[in-house]
Amino acid sequence: MDSVLTGKVISVNGPIVKAVGLRGIKMFDIAEVGSDRLIGEVIRLIEDVTVIQVYEDNTGLKPGDEVISYGRPLSVLLGPGLIANIYDGIQRPLVGISEVCGSYIKKGIKLPPLDAKKKWAFKPLIKAGAQVNQGDILGEIQEGPLVIHKIMIPPGISGKLASIVPAGEYTIEDEVYTVEREAGTYKGKFAEYWPVRKPRPNKNKKKPFIPLITGQRVIDTFFPIARGGTAAIPGGFGTGKTMTQHALSKWCNADIIVYIGCGERGNEMTDVLTEFPKLIDERNGQPLIERTVMIANTSNMPVPAREVSIYTGVTIAEYYRDMGYSVAVMADSTSRWAEALRELSSRLGDMPAEEGFPPYLATRLAEFYERAGLVETLSGKDGDITIIGAVSPPGGDFSEPVTQHTTRFVRCFWALDKVLADARHYPSISWIDSYTEYLHDIEKWWRGIDSEWLSVRNEAMNILLEDHRLQQVVKLVGSDALPPAQQFVLFVAEMIKNGFLQQNSFDPLDKYCSPEKQLKLLKTILSLYKKGRDLVQLGFLVKEIAALDVVSEMVRLKSEIPNNEVEKIDEYNVRLSLGLDSLKEHLDH
Ligand SMILES: Nc1ncnc2c1ncn2[C@@H]1O[C@H](COP(=O)(O)OP(=O)(O)OP(=O)(O)O)[C@@H](O)[C@H]1O
Ligand SMILES: [Mg+2]
Repeated sequence: MDSVLTGKVISVNGPIVKAVGLRGIKMFDIAEVGSDRLIGEVIRLIEDVTVIQVYEDNTGLKPGDEVISYGRPLSVLLGPGLIANIYDGIQRPLVGISEVCGSYIKKGIKLPPLDAKKKWAFKPLIKAGAQVNQGDILGEIQEGPLVIHKIMIPPGISGKLASIVPAGEYTIEDEVYTVEREAGTYKGKFAEYWPVRKPRPNKNKKKPFIPLITGQRVIDTFFPIARGGTAAIPGGFGTGKTMTQHALSKWCNADIIVYIGCGERGNEMTDVLTEFPKLIDERNGQPLIERTVMIANTSNMPVPAREVSIYTGVTIAEYYRDMGYSVAVMADSTSRWAEALRELSSRLGDMPAEEGFPPYLATRLAEFYERAGLVETLSGKDGDITIIGAVSPPGGDFSEPVTQHTTRFVRCFWALDKVLADARHYPSISWIDSYTEYLHDIEKWWRGIDSEWLSVRNEAMNILLEDHRLQQVVKLVGSDALPPAQQFVLFVAEMIKNGFLQQNSFDPLDKYCSPEKQLKLLKTILSLYKKGRDLVQLGFLVKEIAALDVVSEMVRLKSEIPNNEVEKIDEYNVRLSLGLDSLKEHLDH
């Protein structure tokens, strides 16, 4: 039995509470505050004063109220039943809470994060008597239709597997195995606690090399991210950050999605909560929620819970990574998280740095993105976490601190452009301001689909850059003043924008584009570029080329040819060549 520390509140400043008397309490321990036993976490120790941030609404709390602590760090419970669940920032199950208290979260409500009564069918994979080490997989549970949950020896435990239950049905409360160690017998269950602020260990980090396929052309082809990588989606108000993260959560080829709604408006989160459970993954016919864990921390919930929600999310992600899965974490929005940090630090009386953010903002962001990566797990498997963070700079100004610091720690930057969003060019990811540092890491994977991938991508990118440069000239003198060859570059760039980069998330066919289709579409546009350029050199006008039916048809290929009929793009290419050649034939006669 843990010993209980007790103390008294001496001051209350919003969610920041100071207490005395808790001798022996440590940083990041949980403290339960007041008669409602509100959950808080120790965030500072100043001589005999303990500073606690409280994760629940603490109105009414006053000096003199009691504080107790069992000396345990703020932790999440990791075990079967996480998938398809929706939690708040401190892993309270929101569905359970709404069943108990309706839409209003009752103070101090304590519900277990995982269903303790549910029986899980367990299949052991190791026999008693074996030597086991931390991370070893003891057995499996079918957690839902999509996920096989691996029961692992927790980090820090190794010894002789003294006992393990036979195949059968057990709850997370049952003792299912024991490990004999010098330090005594370890009694293992399906679920274990892990402190949220401490990264789970792995053997070593590896260089990512497989792309996270998202089905979004501007991402996969132009600014791809590797599994185990990091990306930021900065964008002003309403430019499409949430839509992009939703599209990725729905279509990316990770095994598990952890979606952290962090400080966004409640109604947006409601959209996710009502939409996701209904979505079916067309690739396997299964509900997408069956690979998703959601953390919903809306703007009306207490600020500290928002601060901790990203750690809760990423710890859950690490747990599935340790099973050998590929996990994608979406955080919407890291700016709201940073604002929580700012509010708390100002209540703590910290000396502010840029724009009132605390000086440790950069370190905290670095620590968060650092938890991404492709790793060799403790059991020797590959597992990875990709972290994609939305950033909402006020006024869309990317020079503000959160965006600036984030760019230092991510290797992929999908900059949303207000001009594109206003023109309803979605996704409004700018091809000028965005970048990726993963092109060379994942090139080998793409070569398995087509050896020309990188050169095709770069050639198209160069057309877009040339277009960007020419647009400055066009602004001054108009496009008619340009030589025909340059006018043709503008025409092809327009085709890349409309026929390739633009992708409507609401279009039933175009919302997901397979890698094969992406490459074929882009190659088609480039073949128009090559053949058309020759025609222009022969004296044809851009408008003559543009007037061909087969050319105007090109922009519709993306939304007319399904992913499983890409050979139709080859057929189109034959018609395109014939169409362009027919122009020349006129000339020959
Ligand atoms: N890929 C897309 N396809 C179609 N429409 C889109 C796409 N991306 C964004 N939109 C449109 O833009 C609107 C705003 O997008 P979204 O809510 O994602 O912006 P946001 O950047 O998250 O905004 P906020 O700053 O309010 O959080 C959407 O409701 C939708 O109409
Ligand atoms: Mg949003």
